[in-house]
Amino acid sequence: MYDILEIIEKKCSGNELTKAEIEFAVMGYVNDEIPDYQMSSLLMAIKLKGMTDKEVIDLTDVMLHSGDVLELGFDSVDKHSTGGVGDKTTIVLAPLVGALGVKVAKMSGRGLGHTGGTIDKLESISGFETSMSLEDLKDQVSEIGVALVGQMGNLCPADKKIYALRDVSGTVGSIPLIASSIMSKKLASGASKIVIDLKVGNGALMTNIEDARELARLMVKIGNLFGRKTICVLTNMNEPLGFAVGNSLEVLESIETLKGNGPSDLNDLVINLGSLMLSLDKNMETLEAIEYVENALKNNSGYEKLLEVVKYQHGDIDKISVSNNTKEIVSPKSGYIKSINALKIGELARKLGAGRKTKDDVIDPGVGFVLHKKVSDKVEAGESLATVYYNDKIIPEADVLDCFEFSNMEVSKPTLIYEIIK
Ligand code: URA
Repeated sequence: MYDILEIIEKKCSGNELTKAEIEFAVMGYVNDEIPDYQMSSLLMAIKLKGMTDKEVIDLTDVMLHSGDVLELGFDSVDKHSTGGVGDKTTIVLAPLVGALGVKVAKMSGRGLGHTGGTIDKLESISGFETSMSLEDLKDQVSEIGVALVGQMGNLCPADKKIYALRDVSGTVGSIPLIASSIMSKKLASGASKIVIDLKVGNGALMTNIEDARELARLMVKIGNLFGRKTICVLTNMNEPLGFAVGNSLEVLESIETLKGNGPSDLNDLVINLGSLMLSLDKNMETLEAIEYVENALKNNSGYEKLLEVVKYQHGDIDKISVSNNTKEIVSPKSGYIKSINALKIGELARKLGAGRKTKDDVIDPGVGFVLHKKVSDKVEAGESLATVYYNDKIIPEADVLDCFEFSNMEVSKPTLIYEIIK
């Protein structure tokens, strides 16, 4: 028999936990035999002392088998983002590649830390149901190729519980915990191939390229070890993705992107990730895949697929409500936008009610920001930098202005895709 205090002490001393010890802690927590405060303590020890590759693989395996492991019965490609500010990629990408015949049974998460969650965003579509039975999920993907749901049924209950605890215990930013959290869900949800959008920058969980490379290495190693071809794409998250930040606002921007009117960074990202998904699925050259994805954006077939998905999941695409209270944030000077701090924008969006501070907080879908400028854009004094959409929670204008840095000199466009790790 194991003792949770000894396991915590062992990790605090920087020693390698055995698979049996990891299983005791994780399953004890899932079964309510280990309380939140002891699990938080272990998570903090892991965050501070790290884990060996063997521990991370064991932790992934334990979480993966903490509940059902889905057999879809067909080939499918999954996409995951490590989370960023304004990251609505899944809402665009899944229907886009779905329109090209790639099957996507996408299980997404809720907001974590200052980053939004796809499920919270989708729920801003009136009536949209993000939970369903595994049987219904399989039926939907067999019939229309795409489903967008939350973590469902008894899939990875360990990650579900631990993820919520990490969000409120300062233990989100740990490479072993992120790698095992993402990969256990990806492996349990039955996809045959996996593309991971690993965000890097001040608005991401990974703030520097070295940590991002290490996380990518671990996830590719885990994926391949469990027999799933896995690719990690390291992408820029130093400014919010696209213009919209906030649940309804991001869904509206996703719709515009699928209609071919998206912001250029979001557009480029979905073309890059989409072509990787398509080439993995169809064994196609990436250049050929890019052409297909670009066409699906031009001819609205991705948008048509989104409409199909929303209808199938009982949502009403015409009912996405945005707050009527708005405030323009105007530029105090002329020049060029040097930076837009994604982390600060994410935190402010959370303060407006777009995200949670505690796990029981209720999201306000209608609040957030629409930026009018991106890094490298020219701006005149008095021009609007952003519109704030708010309801009952107010944020000082100065805090929003504080997110922007200006330069008198021209600023070059930031790199969007840093590296692809296979
Ligand atoms: N996304 C996840 O699914 N898990 C994490 O730990 C972080 C981001």
